[in-house]
Amino acid sequence: MNFAKRLIVWYLENKRDLPWRATKDPYKVWLSEIILQQTRVEQGKPYYFKFLQAFPNVFSLANASEEEVLKLWQGLGYYSRARNLLYTAQHVAFNLGGEFPNNHKNLVKLKGVGDYTASAIASICFDEAQAAVDGNVYRVLARLFGIETPTNSSAGIKQFRNLAQELISKDDPANFNQALIEFGSEQCKPRNPLCNTCPFSSECVAYNQNKIAQLPVKLKK
Ligand code: ADE
Repeated sequence: MNFAKRLIVWYLENKRDLPWRATKDPYKVWLSEIILQQTRVEQGKPYYFKFLQAFPNVFSLANASEEEVLKLWQGLGYYSRARNLLYTAQHVAFNLGGEFPNNHKNLVKLKGVGDYTASAIASICFDEAQAAVDGNVYRVLARLFGIETPTNSSAGIKQFRNLAQELISKDDPANFNQALIEFGSEQCKPRNPLCNTCPFSSECVAYNQNKIAQLPVKLKK
């Protein structure tokens, strides 16, 4: 079995039951990914529910005032996310007929949607094989492959994206992307990763060379 298949097997056996994993609705997936951009899952969950209750679809959000949106966002920080959320909801509702773009190329044009978020939405909602590379993914790949290129250098960003793009399952990019993020979050943790129960430890460069604590490398800027 190749890496992608083995990772997805791990995911299907170990994944958390998170509310946004029960849908392929681009509005809900977009909302969840914006909330999770700088926020931990447990902190973000109640906000996801609050927003969906107040604004069940892109039209209801588009018709909200900035004041209402900022009020609901209170406590999450990075308030530009909330302003971009409203801006993009209005764009989708009023200029795109309520339909989110259905591919990475056009998703990334939306305000507040970067390469990571566009890849997450494109894969989860539209089964497009675009690798979604976040901090979790940097950590997993750096350790597994022993990559010492700094994750916050332009060379590193390219190298990790290319590698993830080579590894991604073309049959099931949605589960692959979520699996890699989940694996980083729950198994290959920043500190005290669970190497004893890791299905990849025998081939993990960091594990075998005792470099877990040194990888990934991040430049101080
Ligand atoms: N972090 C960013 N996106 C996520 C997702 N879809 N599930 C869990 N954690 C995430």
